[in-house]
Amino acid sequence: MFSLILTSVLCLASALLSPVHAAAVPACKAGYVPDITVAPKTVTYFGQTRSQPTDSLAKFCADESVDIVVLAVVHIIKGKGGLPGLNLSGYCGDPISGTDLIRCPEFGTAITKCQAKGKLVFMSLQGSMGDQTLDNDTAAIEYADSLWKLFGEGTGLESMRPFGNAKVDGFDIDNENGDPRGWPKFISELRSKYASASKKYYISAAPQCPHPDASIGDAVYLVDYLFIQFYNNFCATTGLVSSFGTWSKDIAANSIIGTKIFAGFLGAPNTGSGYATHSEMIGYVSQIKNSSNFGGVSVWDATCARKNVDAGGRSFLKAMRDSLQ
Ligand SMILES: *[C@@H]1O[C@H](CO)[C@@H](O)[C@H](O)[C@H]1NC(C)=O
Ligand SMILES: *[C@@H]1O[C@H](CO)[C@@H](O)[C@H](O)[C@H]1NC(C)=O
Ligand SMILES: *[C@@H]1O[C@H](CO)[C@@H](O)[C@H](O)[C@H]1NC(C)=O
Repeated sequence: MFSLILTSVLCLASALLSPVHAAAVPACKAGYVPDITVAPKTVTYFGQTRSQPTDSLAKFCADESVDIVVLAVVHIIKGKGGLPGLNLSGYCGDPISGTDLIRCPEFGTAITKCQAKGKLVFMSLQGSMGDQTLDNDTAAIEYADSLWKLFGEGTGLESMRPFGNAKVDGFDIDNENGDPRGWPKFISELRSKYASASKKYYISAAPQCPHPDASIGDAVYLVDYLFIQFYNNFCATTGLVSSFGTWSKDIAANSIIGTKIFAGFLGAPNTGSGYATHSEMIGYVSQIKNSSNFGGVSVWDATCARKNVDAGGRSFLKAMRDSLQ
């Protein structure tokens, strides 16, 4: 504990002196120290709403209002061939034989372009379709290992990689099946792979706003980012500020890795209950963005948020960016 505090102080001091210098301090590299030099970010989910044929991952990678794109979704933990399964709704229908995976080279190209612009791309896990569970440590370790080989820097499954050589920047635990077992082990297994990787990788999770979350459990204290879903529940809209406060206090008290928390919104009225308009969303964010662990805003999903424009012609994505100013 003492060394952790000492590390924070060292990193903090370096960050205040010079951001460039801070980046070179090896103690900061482990990812266990909050980086106070990083501005709040905008996050958007992409891949489950192919309502407009013109929408593509490349388009959102080029959008100035977007910092992190979270691809949805790896909905099967262990499917055909003993491997995870990938569903991108209408995108990329070419199955990889003997598996529940699909081949998606155009996503691979877009991911690389996103990263060249300094954006991060995460792969989301489970979602509302994800009914499989991690019943024991073996299952958690195998799952982490397969994902690392299919989407990260692991080797041994090259011919099965949905996005070819492109490597995502992290994984997002959007478990919603009510069974939180296995996720802490999964996270520690991924972190051990991250430790020797060629770049920084992240882990996020997407709990529902009722606190504590039944499907993610204590794993909320072990992730870098929490994209909390403030919709489809009583803690949406008028309940948001108070609920965010509860989350913020709990995470500040129990996360030892400086977990940042994000307020998650719906991109359009018809995508669920608890929609906040552009100006309502900006109003809520103005009341929570002074929290010490505020990380930014997230939205479900990119396609809906881009199409949803206010009277001034501003998309919900742009309003999210404006909310952080
Ligand atoms: C993928 O998910 C969509 C719902 O988003 C569903 O309609 C479709 O059947 C799924 N496809 C596969 C192959 O599971
Ligand atoms: C671990 O859980 C998986 C399902 O997640 C199951 O198939 C397997 O038999 C279990 N292994 C042990 C050793 O209990
Ligand atoms: C943040 O600002 C709001 C007012 O907008 C205030 O009620 C709240 O106490 C502040 N929170 C913190 C952590 O400073």
